[in-house]
Amino acid sequence: MPPEFKKLQHLALKVRNIQNSLKFYCDILGFKTTESYRLDTEKGYQDSINFITCSNKHHVINLVQISESHKPKDIEPPSNSRDTHVYGLHHFAFEVKNKTEFKKWEVHLTENKIKIVKGPLVHSPTHPEGDGSWGENRALYFCDPDGNAIEIFCDMANINFATHEIDDLWFRQRIKKDGFDPLEILKPDLNI
Ligand SMILES: [Fe+2]
Repeated sequence: MPPEFKKLQHLALKVRNIQNSLKFYCDILGFKTTESYRLDTEKGYQDSINFITCSNKHHVINLVQISESHKPKDIEPPSNSRDTHVYGLHHFAFEVKNKTEFKKWEVHLTENKIKIVKGPLVHSPTHPEGDGSWGENRALYFCDPDGNAIEIFCDMANINFATHEIDDLWFRQRIKKDGFDPLEILKPDLNI
């Protein structure tokens, strides 16, 4: 058995224009910059790197801008990484506390003219608002200036690994919280 991870904690994104990315992540999404450097690469040119965070950790995202002289010339970034047939990132996700906070994000993004490219929806085959997919989480998706798709979500299913099912108590409480009767809604089976 491998040793345990604590959690997935940060990601690093190569960006076209650091100023546009900082505007998006800091002004719209509320990240704070902790440090910012020009970085000598092994190949003799400089990239710029910005550490930004939405927690008390030093960084949750590193924004790396490739030196102007070494930018890829013929590769246009996607407008939405979820929709491309290119290997690499599909999307990454931020969890919010509950449905109330989730709704606040929907309003905030709309007010700031950020296009929601998918959702809001509930990833569930049985929830009355479900879209037929999996995880039980309420989600919406939008893109950063380089087309990296970002998800905001709440209420992802807890798993009971002893039975390999969605946790009963979690499921009942969630359905009730959303205003439905847990006795009338089936708990989805996990497909494995
Ligand atoms: Fe996701």
